[in-house]
Amino acid sequence: MTTSQTPFHLSGKTILITGASSGIGRATAIACSKLGASCILTGRNDERLHETQKQLLGEGHFCIAADLTQTDDREKLMQQMPTLDGLVWCAGVVNPFPIRFLDEQKIRETFSINYDAVVLTMASMIKHKKLNRNASLVFMSSISAAHPHKGGALYGSSKIALETFSKTLALELYPQKIRSNCIAAAMVQTPMYEQAEERMSKEEMDKHVSRYPLGTGKPEDVAHAAIYFLSDASAWVTGTSLTLDGGFLLHG
Ligand SMILES: NC(=O)c1ccc[n+]([C@@H]2O[C@H](COP(=O)([O-])OP(=O)(O)OC[C@H]3O[C@@H](n4cnc5c(N)ncnc54)[C@H](OP(=O)(O)O)[C@@H]3O)[C@@H](O)[C@H]2O)c1
Repeated sequence: MTTSQTPFHLSGKTILITGASSGIGRATAIACSKLGASCILTGRNDERLHETQKQLLGEGHFCIAADLTQTDDREKLMQQMPTLDGLVWCAGVVNPFPIRFLDEQKIRETFSINYDAVVLTMASMIKHKKLNRNASLVFMSSISAAHPHKGGALYGSSKIALETFSKTLALELYPQKIRSNCIAAAMVQTPMYEQAEERMSKEEMDKHVSRYPLGTGKPEDVAHAAIYFLSDASAWVTGTSLTLDGGFLLHG
């Protein structure tokens, strides 16, 4: 069986990856290109976006640098991108603080990219008819959505809001056979993970990591799940959230 005969292939599909300048977004773009997709890469940092582009296989990929919290940048993205067969939303931040330190600015810093930007970009895509029939939308949630941790009030709340939004997209877009799903990962080895390492003592980090029966995740582990959702192999799957945690939640 050749790659294009399996239901997991992405050839002929045009896929937008947000957060493609780093971590999970970069690995997803590379994996999508290996399965034949044309990738549109977006993120704020143009240099790191082009570093991702250099690692892609095949033709037809391009970068659009954009801060997705900014109306003008979202509009630029809409004007420059073609219609899509898939989207993987990886752009996001984690800014952990105990609740007593939270204020309006901290709420904005997390929600403006983790939630508002998703809603406003998707509203604009639907208005501009940028989603092809049978398109598949994938949003990076987190196990923190359903399993809150101390300091994670804003992050976890933004991700559970994202999951509810994704389910609503699934409901509103099924007449066009457009599907919407989330991936809820535990700790994945990316620059975001390194930020967590900096905030925790070595003992705390070692204790946390020891709770992963299969170890912490690699960006490729998440990319491969995104490929399943993007491909026709998941044609019957919408409105779900897939947990990827290396067995972390087995401990309860
Ligand atoms: N790593 C984990 O342990 C983990 C676990 C569960 C879920 N997740 C989720 O997975 C997603 C990707 O995480 P990651 O670990 O790959 O993080 P990362 O390496 O820190 O990458 C974050 C990406 O988000 C982009 N971004 C941030 N603010 C943006 C803005 N205002 N406009 C446009 N792009 C923006 C960044 O682009 P620039 O750098 O170019 O600005 C970067 O490409 C996030 O949504 C995260 O919540 C991560």
